[in-house]
Amino acid sequence: MFITNPYIENYIRNLTNVEDKVLLEMEELGHKLNFPIVDRLVGKFIYLITKIKNPKLIVELGSGFGYSGFWFAKALIDGKVVLSDYKEENINKAKEFFKKGNLLEKAEFHIGDALEIANQYKNIDILFIDHEKSRYLEAIKTLENNLSENALVIADNILWNGKVLEQNLDNQTKKIKEFTKYMFENKKFETCIVPIRDGILLAMKK
Ligand SMILES: C[S@@+](CC[C@H](N)C(=O)[O-])C[C@H]1O[C@@H](n2cnc3c(N)ncnc32)[C@H](O)[C@@H]1O
Repeated sequence: MFITNPYIENYIRNLTNVEDKVLLEMEELGHKLNFPIVDRLVGKFIYLITKIKNPKLIVELGSGFGYSGFWFAKALIDGKVVLSDYKEENINKAKEFFKKGNLLEKAEFHIGDALEIANQYKNIDILFIDHEKSRYLEAIKTLENNLSENALVIADNILWNGKVLEQNLDNQTKKIKEFTKYMFENKKFETCIVPIRDGILLAMKK
């Protein structure tokens, strides 16, 4: 199911020009491997959010080969982004791309369980959740106290290809909806959904 009218989505995509050669190479790789990177619509969104927020510490859960992390790093002024993935080959590729883009010094790379890695960090200014969909709720409950005041939480695939509307929910969809409900009902957060691509949840810790 399309989240946005495909003509509108195309219209936005055609306006969203990407000139960075490394990002273009990463997009090509994502396409070739059929790897679920966030794509340039979300990339531009997280880039701008980072510019506005000027965070010191961004932590990503599920970095793949570093496409979303690269957008974050490009927007950072003097902060850093922590990338995590349990697949070594993904992290190795991410390092290569960051090296090509001269962004290595803005990033830390970890191989292992994203949640365990993230839990080693305090005062997280932006938490980006894009790992196993069934573990989003566990992630926010574990990391809530590691967030700085006014921290942002951004979670991808929150509309899950429209499956959130179905009657008989599979486990992943059920878990995504539980996480979403938790965020909207939690008085510690102000939460909204931005329906670009597969749906982005954006929340601010009060
Ligand atoms: C959707 S992809 C991430 C894409 C990336 N955020 C981007 O847009 O470029 C999800 C990634 O999370 C990783 N992953 C899933 N569960 C994980 C976990 N518990 N710990 C670490 N990595 C995990 C997968 O290996 C995969 O590379």
